[in-house]
Amino acid sequence: MSSQPIDREAPVQGALIIHPDHEHRDGSRSPQARLEEAAGLARALDLEIRDGLVAPLRKRTPATLFGKGKVAEIGALCEELEADVCVVDDALTPVQQRNLEKAWKVKVIDRTGLILEIFARRARTREGRLQVELARLSYERSRLVRTWTHLERQRGGFGVMGGPGETQIETDRRLLAEKIGRLKKDLVEVRRTRTLQRSARKRRPYPVVALVGYTNAGKSTLFNRLTASDVVAEDMLFATLDPTLRMLDLPDGRPAILSDTVGFISDLPHELVEAFRATLEEVREADVILHVRDIASPESDAEAADVREVLDRLGVDLEERRVIEVWNKVDLVPADDLPLLEGDARRMHPPAHLVSAAAGIGLEPLLATIASLVDEAPPVEARLGAQDGAALAWLYRNGRVIERETDEAGAVRLSVRLSPKAHGQFEQLFPGALDPAASSPDA
Ligand code: GTP
Repeated sequence: MSSQPIDREAPVQGALIIHPDHEHRDGSRSPQARLEEAAGLARALDLEIRDGLVAPLRKRTPATLFGKGKVAEIGALCEELEADVCVVDDALTPVQQRNLEKAWKVKVIDRTGLILEIFARRARTREGRLQVELARLSYERSRLVRTWTHLERQRGGFGVMGGPGETQIETDRRLLAEKIGRLKKDLVEVRRTRTLQRSARKRRPYPVVALVGYTNAGKSTLFNRLTASDVVAEDMLFATLDPTLRMLDLPDGRPAILSDTVGFISDLPHELVEAFRATLEEVREADVILHVRDIASPESDAEAADVREVLDRLGVDLEERRVIEVWNKVDLVPADDLPLLEGDARRMHPPAHLVSAAAGIGLEPLLATIASLVDEAPPVEARLGAQDGAALAWLYRNGRVIERETDEAGAVRLSVRLSPKAHGQFEQLFPGALDPAASSPDA
């Protein structure tokens, strides 16, 4: 494994952060907020931020991303600030990265490189480390430059980065291919063990509740609160990388498993989404997903949209009504804004829960909702005619639809999980639609 331990003795590296602001980029976040997020990522790598700036970008110059004038301006700033590293908060092509390093005479890291590096440092389990390493090698292979840690270690700091010589490239290419092959084999083995563990868990059918959320939303803090454990909760991006599992006691005394997962971030490098796909199976197969949001963050909506997008890329069906939004850090919301927020939370489907994981506010109602959703009663079958739209909508609103089939005549057969209370209500409202005999006994 070439994941390096963090070298505490390494000299502090000064960094300049540039956020290229495209006109057509996702408009939901301010460029300033994006710059601050990039600075946060750089800090997570122990870089010392010397300055940061938003660089308006009307068009992308193929060779250097920025136009000539901007390149010169940033180069001068790097020199003035005595920066060792320039972080460009965008995806750079390998050519752009190399050209900018030559022009600015500093190491250049792009957003993908930055996130990969943080993930490499934070991965704790063997599987997590293998996955990140694999993602990192794939990234390196695509550009045949080494990521930051390697450069720092092997070349003794940041000098002028010329491209490696031709023979070096050949050797690197071969070594990388060999390493990737070995890692893939190791991963298969580690995953086989984990799959066995998961199927063992399935035999003892505890419902699984998974936490997801934007990085720093408060997942680990909530996890600790709910399970009274002490997983690292730090004001540090991606403190949690590997899923952590712990027993959770629901109010009615039934146990469930709570799983804390990797924090999400916008523009998550696709290498990493791929790498974590297997780990995030915990999320896809969870009975309930808690989407933890920092509701006090001005970027809360944009962050939530990013999380939903990643979940979608992972194949999590958000329509399935098993995602509860947990609006965390309510203690930071000004009292005047609370009534409005409470109204918004009630209007969500299902309603969002306002909590403070840190202050212990709102946790009991949350646990009660989880308990009502992970009801282990077997799903019931409903047969509805094409004209039974109201019953169908009711089931989607109040139950958890697991399967749906529609025949040619438009009749619908649903397999749906209902809490005992919802079950009773449905039978009163729509007598005869449920077919208890067809309930699947082993679900
Ligand atoms: P990643 O590991 O990056 O995905 O982060 P996370 O979502 O697990 O966040 P974590 O629990 O580490 O919390 C991030 C920061 O927010 C920490 O400094 C927490 O103390 C703080 N925090 C969490 N919940 C609350 C809350 O309810 N109120 C306030 N004021 N701060 C909170």
